[in-house]
Amino acid sequence: MSKIKSQFITLGLIAAMAGFSGCEMKPQHRMTPKAKTSEAAVQKPAAAPVRAGLKPAPTALKIDIKAFGETTDGQQVRLYSLCNANGLKADIMTYGAIVVSLQTPDRKGRMDDIVLGYDNLEDYIKNSPYFGAIVGRYGNRIAKGKFTLDGVEYTLATNNNNVNHLHGGVKGFDKVVWDDEPVWKADAVGVKLSCLSKDGEEGYPGNLKAAVTYTLTNNNELRIDYEATTDKATPVNLTHHGYFNLTGAERDILGHVLALNADRFTPVDEGLIPTGELPAVKGTPMDFTKPTEIGARIAGEYQQLKFGGGYDHNWVLNQRGKEMILAARVYEPTTGRSMEIRTTEPAIQFYSGNFLDGTITGKGGKVYKHRWGFCLETQHYPDSPNKPDFPSTILRPGEKYETTTIYRFSAK
Ligand code: BGC
Repeated sequence: MSKIKSQFITLGLIAAMAGFSGCEMKPQHRMTPKAKTSEAAVQKPAAAPVRAGLKPAPTALKIDIKAFGETTDGQQVRLYSLCNANGLKADIMTYGAIVVSLQTPDRKGRMDDIVLGYDNLEDYIKNSPYFGAIVGRYGNRIAKGKFTLDGVEYTLATNNNNVNHLHGGVKGFDKVVWDDEPVWKADAVGVKLSCLSKDGEEGYPGNLKAAVTYTLTNNNELRIDYEATTDKATPVNLTHHGYFNLTGAERDILGHVLALNADRFTPVDEGLIPTGELPAVKGTPMDFTKPTEIGARIAGEYQQLKFGGGYDHNWVLNQRGKEMILAARVYEPTTGRSMEIRTTEPAIQFYSGNFLDGTITGKGGKVYKHRWGFCLETQHYPDSPNKPDFPSTILRPGEKYETTTIYRFSAK
């Protein structure tokens, strides 16, 4: 706390006029944006002065930082609570760069937490199917945990049923404690999380410096900017593994209506490794080019759905290149909540929570039964290091890995 410049500002009036419900609006201590702190409430002053007779713009951007326990090897974990001007709130912890909770309004303005997870760090450490985490170095699977790069064969953990490599290995990015610093923007607040994955860690070549910046904007977006550099060529495929349930985790996700901006997908074998083909989705239960209930065709007699135990596939987005495109839209009819995903990535994994089976009790004592949450993971195609025809995931020294994905929330 010594680095914190203590200063009170009163935001009660602004809070009352804006009628917020999601964020606490008590006067808060403020700290300089660059200062690092272990535990602090952080409040920026209003950007524009309030002029007499004019309704002030909502200026409730807020960052709250508190201790969230420690890992079994004694590393301190912090929880950032980000709050935007409309009362949306995102809690993000430094362990696994995990989004612990995400509160958004339904059509009546009622706030609910729309992501699955746990109330405490211990449960995340003990047993988490990547709830809300950043996964890396390589999101999704690499066949048999092997790939050859520049003539050298590399061996990775086969942590998926002892057959394939999944989500970066035994200790992937979802299980490390990231360095953190708060991020202030005129219309957003965030946290920048950084980690170093050392040469040889989990079998991957090169020291990889990775950074992920989460920002919660006043446009009701959770934006994720990913960056990485390396000193040896290595595959990199970072993604966010949030399990969403727009009902506030009140029931399964089968009634959510999903649209994917994808005419093709990558079919898989029994081990969920892509076969290399890119068939059209047209005429199959994989066709989400028009908004369709997730549950409408999930139980159909279709081999790909049998392999995945439901949806667990990579869709090829319709536009290639680096520009940001609309990837997916999800609408939940009972609450009116919608989520729109835009990304610079070429593909998206849609996973319908098939491995959730009621054995996990999550936040607030809720039991996460079969298909209680879904993931939409923007990414490169699974097993790309072994598929020369897929867009490359190899990052080389001197290059910069940069991708962005934006989740936008609304209700109607
Ligand atoms: C994968 C699933 C896996 C899940 C949780 C998803 O990204 O596609 O196959 O079970 O993550 O590990």
